[in-house]
Amino acid sequence: MTINTRLIAAQTLVRVLDKGQSLTVALEQTLPALETSQDKAFVQAVCYGVCRYYHRLQFVLLQLLDKPIKDVEIYALALVGLYQLDFMRVKTHAAVSETVAATRKKSWAKNLINALLRRYLREQESVKVQTNLDSSALHSHPKWLISRITNDWGDENAGRIFQTNNEFPPMILRVNFQQSTRENYLQQLNELNIEAEAVDVCASAIRLTKPVAVASLPNFEKGAVSVQDTAAQFAAGLLDLKSGQRVLDLCAAPAGKTAHILESQPNVECVAVDIDATRMLRVETNLQRLNLSATLIVSDATQPEKWWDGKLFDRILVDAPCSALGVIRRHPDIKMLRRADDLIALSSLQFAILKAAWSMLVEGGLLVYATCSILKAENEDQIAQFLAENTDAQEIPFDKNPAKYGWQILTGDNDCDGFYYARLHKVSLSVQ
Ligand SMILES: C[S@@+](CC[C@H](N)C(=O)[O-])C[C@H]1O[C@@H](n2cnc3c(N)ncnc32)[C@H](O)[C@@H]1O
Repeated sequence: MTINTRLIAAQTLVRVLDKGQSLTVALEQTLPALETSQDKAFVQAVCYGVCRYYHRLQFVLLQLLDKPIKDVEIYALALVGLYQLDFMRVKTHAAVSETVAATRKKSWAKNLINALLRRYLREQESVKVQTNLDSSALHSHPKWLISRITNDWGDENAGRIFQTNNEFPPMILRVNFQQSTRENYLQQLNELNIEAEAVDVCASAIRLTKPVAVASLPNFEKGAVSVQDTAAQFAAGLLDLKSGQRVLDLCAAPAGKTAHILESQPNVECVAVDIDATRMLRVETNLQRLNLSATLIVSDATQPEKWWDGKLFDRILVDAPCSALGVIRRHPDIKMLRRADDLIALSSLQFAILKAAWSMLVEGGLLVYATCSILKAENEDQIAQFLAENTDAQEIPFDKNPAKYGWQILTGDNDCDGFYYARLHKVSLSVQ
């Protein structure tokens, strides 16, 4: 029996809408039901697209219905239908008939989906005019997020961020300099007809013209490259690593930055800590592929007394848990799952981790605080408060950027994910 891909897409979206699962986890659960890679790719494209345009599609749907759809699977199916008509190059007839067929034995739903998709086809133009008058529908972001980003960065930057958040993200590679130069790896890609170019702003980064499966990248299994956005590739360089140093990577899983630290300076003693045991398993796999090693500790960064051996660190990276609002283009379900209230708990956790990290840094040492957020509350406001409370902390400033403290990369700047870095130097209080 052939499985209806629209139904699988709707069932995936129900996991996000109803159970609060991330789209990545939801797809891991539902894709195995499909046999062909073509069907899997279709479901993935529909689900990512619906999440990307959820706030727009939801608004369109409300205009086409007399009353909301209570059955969440049918609601998701309605979104799947509208998404295909608006954003995919699927034949209209197939989009409607296959989506209607996915209602299975629910005849009321069959009639409803059929009527609403056909109505949309008739009234598309006037519905679009209405849709573009609503800011949440126009930008396809929740209202609270539109106002937070606009308050922090102004209308012009915010507009650019919303637009970038709704675009397809580039696939960026980080070249492992222990194995090859960037030029050499670009040559290897070229030999396989994988189109790519060097990223100007970052010495280790390569941008692929089109995403490819990692298995098709030359020497991927041997650790020649890793997939990592350009913005995240700045972390290791900012740590100013030197041979023989003791380095702490707090909040390390899945080890994108741990690996880069060790690739940049193999002769350091690296301790990587993360609270999530499952994510830590991925650290092991990732380091193994790259033939790197670090001391791995599953524990709470805010409670060093539980795991720290008391020896101070020369360098500390705090890659803090955050709202991840800078990576919406890669994970559009964040717009559906993240709540304004989450920021309160996240901010206090970030500050607690930063404080604990500071207690483990040697005098003269350097701490880099990082998030993949674009909100001041998680970034420069945290650093401002930390500097006010800790007279032995001095910021090493960055020039040319919109933040008062640290370096704020807004989503889309140099085609990067939204990211934040601050460098804090620990000075001796006795010589101040
Ligand atoms: C932004 S991710 C880290 C990404 C990672 N540094 C990388 O480059 O691949 C944040 C991490 O913080 C971890 N985390 C959250 N709360 C924590 C805590 N209290 N102590 C330690 N780790 C924590 C999460 O499990 C998550 O893996």
